[in-house]
Amino acid sequence: MIDTLEDTLKRAEKLVFLTGAGISQESGISTFRGNGGLWQKYDPMKLASAQAFRDDPRLVWRWYNDRRRKILAAKPNLGHMAIANLQDHRQVSVVTQNIDGLHHRAESREVTELHGNIFTTKCTKCNFRGKIRDEFFDLPPSCEKCGSYLRPDVVWFGEGINREVWNQAVMHSISCDVMIIVGTSLAVSPANKLHSYAKNNKATLVEINPENTPFSYKIDFSIKKTAVDALPRLISIFESLSK
Ligand code: APR
Ligand code: ZN
Repeated sequence: MIDTLEDTLKRAEKLVFLTGAGISQESGISTFRGNGGLWQKYDPMKLASAQAFRDDPRLVWRWYNDRRRKILAAKPNLGHMAIANLQDHRQVSVVTQNIDGLHHRAESREVTELHGNIFTTKCTKCNFRGKIRDEFFDLPPSCEKCGSYLRPDVVWFGEGINREVWNQAVMHSISCDVMIIVGTSLAVSPANKLHSYAKNNKATLVEINPENTPFSYKIDFSIKKTAVDALPRLISIFESLSK
């Protein structure tokens, strides 16, 4: 008997949400690919790489200022909130490619940020790490330990994901009953491998995305809707259960 999505969700104990820029799109934050995406307007290699920062630290720093301003002005949307609310009913972890911190602001507790967070900085030379919020200097600030430039503590093109962060993401992926993939084109490795880890461990894959992705063919339940349309309805299945 082919399980319906509802039956599958009702039985699930542990859920992992693998999220990308699309889940923040309805908070007014641009995605990278697809209509209106950032990489249609800008060359990522000139803004989101270590070489770009070496070539023009002011340009890169100001671009991240602009993104931080937009993120500070944005709010978690009903998609972020639905995931956070599910924590009252099931074991939930979020593995996100986003650096905007909106899952934290929605009060999700178990969040793994694969690509870092725009509100943290790190030194380009020593091991100093700092926090930044609504300061918008024109040039990157200097490290208080060694005086070198600080940069956004995010994963740029050509850089690897922190080993501990990756191991945590894999641990969640191989131990979940359901992985719900929301708002990601699955264009970037190694994040686009995590669904295979889940699948290899017999998890059910659900995709919430108005568009197809290169891996949609492997998905058990594909919901062609936006995060705000789909997630509150999906989570209401659990709320009806616990009444
Ligand atoms: N709800 C759900 N999905 C949406 C919505 C929405 N409202 N709006 C757009 N999408 C989908 C798009 O169809 C697309 O498949 O979200 C996806 C966004 O894809 P990308 O812009 O490629 O973002 P993401 O997958 O997170 O990119 C991964 O690439 O540039 C790097 O580091 C950057 O973390 C980023 C990584
Ligand atoms: Zn330093």
